[in-house]
Amino acid sequence: MKFLVCNTYEEASQEAAKIFEEQLRTKPSSVLGLATGSTPLGLYRELIRAYQLGGLDFSAVTTINLDEYYPIAPTHEQSYRYFMNENLFKHINVDPAKTFVPDGQAASPEDESVSYDERIKRLGGIDLQLLGIGENGHIGFNEPSDALRMDTHVEVLTESTRKANARFFQSIDEVPTHAITMGMAGIMTAKKILLLACGKNKHEVVKAMQDKTVTTQIPATLLKCHPDMTLICDRAAFEGR
Ligand code: PGA
Repeated sequence: MKFLVCNTYEEASQEAAKIFEEQLRTKPSSVLGLATGSTPLGLYRELIRAYQLGGLDFSAVTTINLDEYYPIAPTHEQSYRYFMNENLFKHINVDPAKTFVPDGQAASPEDESVSYDERIKRLGGIDLQLLGIGENGHIGFNEPSDALRMDTHVEVLTESTRKANARFFQSIDEVPTHAITMGMAGIMTAKKILLLACGKNKHEVVKAMQDKTVTTQIPATLLKCHPDMTLICDRAAFEGR
């Protein structure tokens, strides 16, 4: 694991953007695994800026997102489809038909999960997977548990995750109870992984990333086994203050 501690959130976002820029320079038709949440917003702003300055071209890129609430409409302001459109896709030259987010309105979320994995396979896997990290160590919506699922699946959200995400909704009751999430295999088979952790509330989980143990109770720790994983955090997450 490569580990980079930046002084600020902005600096962490810039370092993360450099990894994306390098990826697109090396392979313009990359399959990018993308994430939602507050953490990637700074990185997305950097990518938009790089595109507007004329240096970064997304025209050949395919994107595949980690997860989506279930059930939720794509027009719902808290849906991850809406988040991606608003915070990235509509500002860059990615082909909307080549941006994939699990369908939060699928009649059968189980069938949607199976076709999501088939899509990842057809795309030849993910070249660069971006991940945020939950305070409880979840990645995507793979929540701490005795056993983790490999495949894309429907996950029951933990109380801790629903509480953490309640800040985006009117009240916790409105936070969906389920999500469709890529599983551990979709994530771990990405050729390259970039994990971003910012803010002092991520300190415990950043600490857990630094020893030599892995546990399904902190799903992010499994990433330590990945051969090409970079963790970028800010000083707040590193020091816990
Ligand atoms: P956050 O969420 O970026 O909003 O902290 C991260 C996550 O839950 O994966």
